[in-house]
Amino acid sequence: MSTKASAPGKIILFGEHAVVYGQPALAVPVTQVHADVEVSDSSRPGIWIEAPDIDLHTELNTLPSDHPLAAVIHNLFFALHVDPFPSLNVRIASSIPVASGLGSGAAVSVALIRALSTYTGHPLSDERVNDLAFEIEKLHHGTPSGIDNTVITYARPVYFVKGRPLETFKAGVPFFLIIGDTGVAAPTKEAVGDVRKLWMKDKVKWEKVFSKIGDIANLARTMIEQARTKELGELMDQNHVLLQELRVSSPELDKLVQVARNAGALGAKLSGGGRGGNMIALVTPETKEAVAKSLTDAGARHVIITKVE
Ligand code: MEV
Repeated sequence: MSTKASAPGKIILFGEHAVVYGQPALAVPVTQVHADVEVSDSSRPGIWIEAPDIDLHTELNTLPSDHPLAAVIHNLFFALHVDPFPSLNVRIASSIPVASGLGSGAAVSVALIRALSTYTGHPLSDERVNDLAFEIEKLHHGTPSGIDNTVITYARPVYFVKGRPLETFKAGVPFFLIIGDTGVAAPTKEAVGDVRKLWMKDKVKWEKVFSKIGDIANLARTMIEQARTKELGELMDQNHVLLQELRVSSPELDKLVQVARNAGALGAKLSGGGRGGNMIALVTPETKEAVAKSLTDAGARHVIITKVE
């Protein structure tokens, strides 16, 4: 017997970092990249994990208990009262670049939770998958808002406020984004931790910045719903300046953001934790190829064109 599950990547459109402090943020799934998990019977005792993308080929018990993959399996089987553990082969493949702001860790958790729960005869609701994936995000990120696991679990555009029920949004007209990868791996945990240090030193000052970012996210939602693409681009530029103030941009991100604007993007910003990873640019059907080419020429490692509906 074997069971397969997959989960998409994601990008944050507006509100990263401020969302950790209770402000709203907007995120969308990116289906061009995904994590795929296959669980099958094993003739050898134990749970054998094959994850070639991270060069991992091992039995579960050789991993430290706080390793994110081990933690997913232990937490899930504990929650489902699966005891003793069955003998399994778990194959994990992902086309989502690691530490790039596209949610690779959350996507692997979601796909793994779905595949294992279905395989063991306990298929879970999205709500439970999301709750379990959030526990693992805490290992990856320290103090995550929960936006990554939520957008990836529900695979829909989300308007996210920490601790509030899922709210989704719809674009008045579909629009195109270019996602450009700096190729610089940047773990979200570090950027989130550094922003926390800033905030601890002067909460009043940084909460003003968070709330400006939150206002931009709210306005952006309206612009998306009312198909006001030009204003949406301007809001991206403004959000990027505030992320620079939070010191989560980098020379590579600033360069790609500027290149995209020069090539005709309506706006651009970093996306996700920052310091590296990905930026996004808002483009039209007429400018998308030129912006994508300029980003590649400027050294972007991967470029994805995605449509938000
Ligand atoms: C990471 O994709 C988004 C951050 O806001 C962290 C989080 O919300 O957990 C930087």
